[in-house]
Amino acid sequence: MYATIIKTRKLNLGYQAMKKITLGMIGFGTIGSGVVKLLRENGGLIERRLGARLFLKRIADLDITTPRVVPVPPELMTTDAAQIIDDPDTDIVIELMGGYEPARSFILAALANGKHVVTANKALLATYGNEVFMVADRHDVDIRFEASVGGTIPIVKTLKESLVGNQIDSFMAIMNGTSNYILSKMTDEEKPFDVVLKEAQALGFAEADPTFDIEGIDTAHKLAIALSLAYGKRVDIDEIYREGISGISMQDLEFAKEFGYRIKLLALAFSRGDLVEARIHPTMIPVDAMLANVNSNFNAFHIIGSSSGPVFLYGQGAGMMPTASAVISDIIDIARGMLHGVSRLVPYRSLGEDIIDDIRLIPFPEIRTNYYFRFMAADKAGVLSKISGILGEMNISIASVIQKGRKKDGAVPVVMTTHKARERDVREALARIDRLDVVHEPTVLIRIEDERL
Ligand code: HSE
Repeated sequence: MYATIIKTRKLNLGYQAMKKITLGMIGFGTIGSGVVKLLRENGGLIERRLGARLFLKRIADLDITTPRVVPVPPELMTTDAAQIIDDPDTDIVIELMGGYEPARSFILAALANGKHVVTANKALLATYGNEVFMVADRHDVDIRFEASVGGTIPIVKTLKESLVGNQIDSFMAIMNGTSNYILSKMTDEEKPFDVVLKEAQALGFAEADPTFDIEGIDTAHKLAIALSLAYGKRVDIDEIYREGISGISMQDLEFAKEFGYRIKLLALAFSRGDLVEARIHPTMIPVDAMLANVNSNFNAFHIIGSSSGPVFLYGQGAGMMPTASAVISDIIDIARGMLHGVSRLVPYRSLGEDIIDDIRLIPFPEIRTNYYFRFMAADKAGVLSKISGILGEMNISIASVIQKGRKKDGAVPVVMTTHKARERDVREALARIDRLDVVHEPTVLIRIEDERL
């Protein structure tokens, strides 16, 4: 049924038969179903825009019997991925199974067989990207991964193409919908973390094991990919400082409000000469900052380019159709190149694989930022002076102080914000303060970002 010959014009080579680009998809879960649905619903539109037909020849999945939200004829399905990877007709392999193995082996085999690849697999690219891109480069094929970061948001294209003439001065992003959903609910409905997490799990907004999302691991995978696009270099994800949201308490959300902040799990990257500062942690940001108003499970990116100035992208970071939209855009990019007999006009990352090198990150103890501290201290004369004395000795300048709230086990919250201080000094000061007998609990530290937003 796809054999129709349509006359079309291709470059200046005159009229010829409309091309058919053959796709094979590995993984038929939520995103895979979205891709099939999108191809069905918008097939005609895509065909007109592309000037070619996208033909999904085969779908591989271990489970080919469970009915999907988007049913497909049984003959389209196989449990054997080799039927796609080794199929001489297949031009583009779409990997949507996720995880490390066998996704890695399937992608490497497809690339080695000269097939272009589209994937949404951030964990794989963040961990094995160097190997995957090297194999793609060696076989002169393309690999695209728009859906791996920010779901539907065109952040990969923005960093690699739209902002290609800019130094990326700063990159600040909410890249995990689950954490953002939980923090938004905690803030707006004044419910503690555990309660909101359970609700989120019941509604399908959080996984049964939410560790990857709430501890910032998913964000780290996405930031590692974004860094390689923004700075044209590779980064080892284990070198990126990472802190999740499981320690955020209602008390700190309330104090944040008093200081005019909201707390968001941010991925932050700043250009520092030849070095890059990159970190992931709950961050207090001004309530009127655009990122502070990105709520529920939405993602957003606030980028400042050296010439562009601020650029803000907002949208769904996950979900069946939003993610499928990004996958289809990658397929069409590759298909457009194929129709013109070119591939890889744009490098996989922001530099060619032959010149890309490792990113040099600023060691985390050397970063300088503003801080929020919550001390749980005895409510008696001299306590504040002991605390502020240590902060002063460590060159940490206090910007504001509040003592407020009810005594709990003989301690009251004393809350401070600071001017810019060095992380190493802050850690040492807090270690000394926490040893004071008037301080009853480990001090809470939350970093503040209010300059570039
Ligand atoms: N688990 C991710 C999130 C979605 O919560 O944003 C997929 O990247």
